[in-house]
Amino acid sequence: MQDTPLTALAPPVPAVDLAAEKALLGAEIHAAVRDVLDSGSFILGPTVEAFEKEAAAALGAAHAVSLNSGTDAIVLALRALGVGPGDEVITTSYSFFATAEAIALVGAKPIFVDVHPETFDLVVSQVEARITERTKAVIPVHLYGQSADMTALKALAGARGLFVVEDAAQAIGAKWEGRCAGTIGEFGTFSFYPSKNIGAYGDGGMVVTNDATLAEHARKLRNHGPAGGGVHDTIGYNSRLDAVQAAILRVKLPRMDAWSTARRAAAAIYDGLLADEERLVLPVTRPAAEHVYHQYVVRVRGGRPADLVDRINAAGVGVRVYYGKPLSEMPCFEDRPATPDALRASQEVLALPIGPFLRPEQQQRVVQVVRAALATT
Ligand SMILES: Cc1ncc(COP(=O)(O)O)c(C=O)c1O
Repeated sequence: MQDTPLTALAPPVPAVDLAAEKALLGAEIHAAVRDVLDSGSFILGPTVEAFEKEAAAALGAAHAVSLNSGTDAIVLALRALGVGPGDEVITTSYSFFATAEAIALVGAKPIFVDVHPETFDLVVSQVEARITERTKAVIPVHLYGQSADMTALKALAGARGLFVVEDAAQAIGAKWEGRCAGTIGEFGTFSFYPSKNIGAYGDGGMVVTNDATLAEHARKLRNHGPAGGGVHDTIGYNSRLDAVQAAILRVKLPRMDAWSTARRAAAAIYDGLLADEERLVLPVTRPAAEHVYHQYVVRVRGGRPADLVDRINAAGVGVRVYYGKPLSEMPCFEDRPATPDALRASQEVLALPIGPFLRPEQQQRVVQVVRAALATT
């Protein structure tokens, strides 16, 4: 391993800086958690209901149903729409595994399409080409915090009678043509995994919808499918967000827009610092999209050298690869078409540290270390 002169000269820059967030919000979060402990109400109840109302309002959705993960959010959305065994659901080949896993968990078959190389969202013309009489739904993923092309997708889904479930796990507060990601399809699904833009101190998730019947169905599914009076007429789940997590999320949610703005400002600083770096391709934002930079992802032209990530991390800068393998290449799926643009992305992407508390001097260090590591490959 080649050492860079920068190693150990400055404090490390972590991939996700939850400590900075805790320093700002720690007292408020402790008070909120204490209130829940004192209330004795831990499952569903007033804190969870208040969070759901606030989340729906913040996103401009009619209904929000909180759940215990972003994975369950996709599962319950598909179940509420009646998607199940024998059905096909078209989705992107380039996302976190949970997107496709959720399709398989409801008994349906994931059908993968390739992504746009610049924006990493699914190619709508390929979705069209893969529709069959078994296709029930499409799941676009708003990867890294930028909405997929929802105008083209909604037009296609409307014409072909398909449901759209937006996987907005990485994109809370992002917008497409002024509307929040997750509020455009039949359902939007969110994750509150701790490193997400709005993260719990544990697992959490949510669906949003503008349809009261679908919201009711999701509510029923998350709590074992009750029909009233101790009778259950639906096989559901235990997928409730607990009140402690809801209380923590209520502290963070009002900061959503300010934190998104801070992330965009940090992204603009990276754009400037890296503008002349010919070995990297910088992120692209579509004009209709308002990006919330869950990740700031560059591409290394010609592919990441095998030891690049380790060398940058060893120099104290937390970089990550999201994701190192297209979903269509996962051995657990039967339908495995080639998705060459997803494959190339998996060989080139590099996520630099980003967050609302990242300081410009930290970004300068990130860029110095990344440039030095690229220069020695
Ligand atoms: C795109 C995407 N979909 C789904 C999920 C699943 O969310 P969770 O980890 O809360 O189950 C994640 C979380 O990492 C994600 O990034």
